[in-house]
Amino acid sequence: MSGPSSNYDPVEVTPLSPDEVTRMRDEAIAAINAAADLGQLKAARIAHAGDRAPLTLANSEIGALPPQARAEAGKRVGAARGAVRQALADRTTELEAERDQQVLLTETVDVTLPWDRRPAGARHPVTMAADRLSDVFVAMGYEVAEGPEVEAEWYNFDALNFPPDHPARESQDTLFVAGPKEAGDGSGDPGHSGVVLRTHTSPVQIRAMLSRPLPLYVVSPGRCFRADALDATHSPVFHQIECLAVDEGLTMADLRGVIQAFVDAMFGEGLRTRFRPDYFPFTEPSGDVSMECHVCRGASTRAGGEPCRVCRSQGWIEIAGCGMVNPRVLIACGIDPGRYTGFAFGLGIERTLMIGHGVTDIRDTTEGDVRFSRAFGTEI
Ligand code: DAH
Repeated sequence: MSGPSSNYDPVEVTPLSPDEVTRMRDEAIAAINAAADLGQLKAARIAHAGDRAPLTLANSEIGALPPQARAEAGKRVGAARGAVRQALADRTTELEAERDQQVLLTETVDVTLPWDRRPAGARHPVTMAADRLSDVFVAMGYEVAEGPEVEAEWYNFDALNFPPDHPARESQDTLFVAGPKEAGDGSGDPGHSGVVLRTHTSPVQIRAMLSRPLPLYVVSPGRCFRADALDATHSPVFHQIECLAVDEGLTMADLRGVIQAFVDAMFGEGLRTRFRPDYFPFTEPSGDVSMECHVCRGASTRAGGEPCRVCRSQGWIEIAGCGMVNPRVLIACGIDPGRYTGFAFGLGIERTLMIGHGVTDIRDTTEGDVRFSRAFGTEI
């Protein structure tokens, strides 16, 4: 290997010639300025300022020059590398600022956005219907009475004059919580009878008669339970509203009047009501109440009338069971049937809701889907 030559001309060493150094510097600066992001800039740094970059390699050749040529070549290469470093620093500053700006834009938080737009809760349509039904009676002077959902069999059946072997007590209808405390048929008194999930709101009649002074005008909405499978028209959990009046001189005419007032308030005035005989152990006589169909008003039953889905072209819709309180029930509650008479009726709240709003599947009222509830508004 030859030593440094004294007549070596640095201009002749291609990588160290002024033109070549300038070209390498300009190429490096162009690449640095062309970097569009910090990733590309890193690549440019490696290519033009890294260990294997042309200017780095040129720098390492300086030592091979004769001493008198080194200073000038060193200055030239040093200046070029300095310019590249400066270009790198400038572009880094620019690209970092751009990146920070971008982060501000993409991760921006609009502090003026509302933060409390969670939908407000609302009462369930069945609750709203129960309140509306109760209000109709409260406006007529009735009081709201409540009873337990887990009820003594005695209140649910015996005091209401259901015989011990009545089929409604059978377990396919009634959900039993406990059997009678003493051997026997479960009848006798509330303390010893079995315990059931109440199958209707009628036991509240008994509780009202036993606990309130006469005359008595009460309405009681509430949840009821039966061992029914859930389908479009049955639900094991449903709601009823019960109405009871006990006073001197009440007759079926009063019952009819109250029912008509109730239908007027719930479905609009002008719909006729109809009573047909029925049987319930706790009323005598008993009936079922129908109202004229509020949708077709009977038109579906006439020749050439459009069929009606709401009343199945019957012209009438059954809405309630009713009757005059059976004297045996009054006696069970210590009321003198010679002096007092009473009337009662009970109806399904889901059913009333379904009739009034064209709901065809009772499951919509139990599933809790807000898309169903929202259509009824958001009354708090
Ligand atoms: N409790 C009855 C039922 O669940 C409905 C009923 C019928 C209630 C007649 C009454 C009445 O108050 O008088 O089917």
